[in-house]
Amino acid sequence: MAHTVVFGSTGLKVSPVCFGTWQLSPRFWGDQPRQEVLQAMHAAFDAGVTFFDTADAYGDGLGEKVLGEFLAEVPRDKVVVCTKVFNHFRPDSSRYPDLSAAHVRQRCDIELKRLGTDCIDIYLLHLVDVLTPMREITGVLEELRQRGKIRHYGVSNHPVEHFRALRHLGDYAVCQPPYSLVDAGIEKDLLPYCEAENVGVMVYSPLHKGLLTGKYTGSETFTDFRQHHPDFQGERFRALCGAVHELKPIAERYGMSIYQLVLTATLMHPAIQVAVVGIKTAAQIREAAGVMGRTLDREDYFEIRRILAAPSLPRVKDATGKTR
Ligand SMILES: NC(=O)c1ccc[n+]([C@@H]2O[C@H](COP(=O)([O-])OP(=O)(O)OC[C@H]3O[C@@H](n4cnc5c(N)ncnc54)[C@H](OP(=O)(O)O)[C@@H]3O)[C@@H](O)[C@H]2O)c1
Repeated sequence: MAHTVVFGSTGLKVSPVCFGTWQLSPRFWGDQPRQEVLQAMHAAFDAGVTFFDTADAYGDGLGEKVLGEFLAEVPRDKVVVCTKVFNHFRPDSSRYPDLSAAHVRQRCDIELKRLGTDCIDIYLLHLVDVLTPMREITGVLEELRQRGKIRHYGVSNHPVEHFRALRHLGDYAVCQPPYSLVDAGIEKDLLPYCEAENVGVMVYSPLHKGLLTGKYTGSETFTDFRQHHPDFQGERFRALCGAVHELKPIAERYGMSIYQLVLTATLMHPAIQVAVVGIKTAAQIREAAGVMGRTLDREDYFEIRRILAAPSLPRVKDATGKTR
């Protein structure tokens, strides 16, 4: 039987591994063969991965379109779909934030059409729009829910204080923050809050954009967006890859790959119900699906954390300016 978890207060039963479709954004990841990603979605479904994540922004709608093609080929009620809203797109596809009610209403209709569905299971605010009042944003989300266009709503990339404030105004039940074992800052604030409040947490980039998969030596160079990412450069990249390779003996004891060991450990945090993994091929999602229902000994979990927190790693500033 497929392995599922109850997704916080939404009550939805979802697979703890969620298929991420950001890889269908050519300007970040280069061109992915559409057919290969579609095959990977079917492989996911066959392996019990029934939760899919996309966004209005991924590939300017390509992510939602390809997911829509997949949805047309499987029973809709067997799949949970999460998508996001945020951008106002100019004709040249440059963008600016716009969560105003009129714009969200319009985008939601476009997204429903691309997905070929009459209801989005989980609808997230992709980022913070500082200009639209929180009451206006919450009002339109409630309206969409009452009209049956979305089932649940939540946020992504919102600091804990912002999320807490929104939850005073509406039923924000889901949160999608970035998290990996080398970027675990939200363990200090957002995760304890979500755990206590029974928020459905689906973390993104759990393999740190591929870095924790164990397939890099530290000498690689990238042509996608990782060519500018500080963790994929020079001494820091080499040191991180070295630490990741130290995980091999632990992985082998569990009959797992390093990728699977890291994903299993990520899902052990009590606040995290779901990990959204970025997928390009069927083989990748099968490997991810293999961790569902698996767990590690407490001692090994903390050994993994110790290895990946190696103090010799050169420190960098992340996107928010914090040093890690
Ligand atoms: N809400 C947001 O703002 C936000 C932001 C980012 C992502 N997300 C969501 O989260 C998802 C995951 O994030 P991410 O793409 O950064 O994730 P990730 O899972 O940390 O890394 C994905 C990369 O790992 C590599 N990979 C995947 N499976 C593998 C396997 N089995 N073995 C070896 N390598 C493997 C692939 O890259 P290579 O094959 O090129 O190495 C893939 O592109 C996205 O697709 C998206 O749905 C959301």
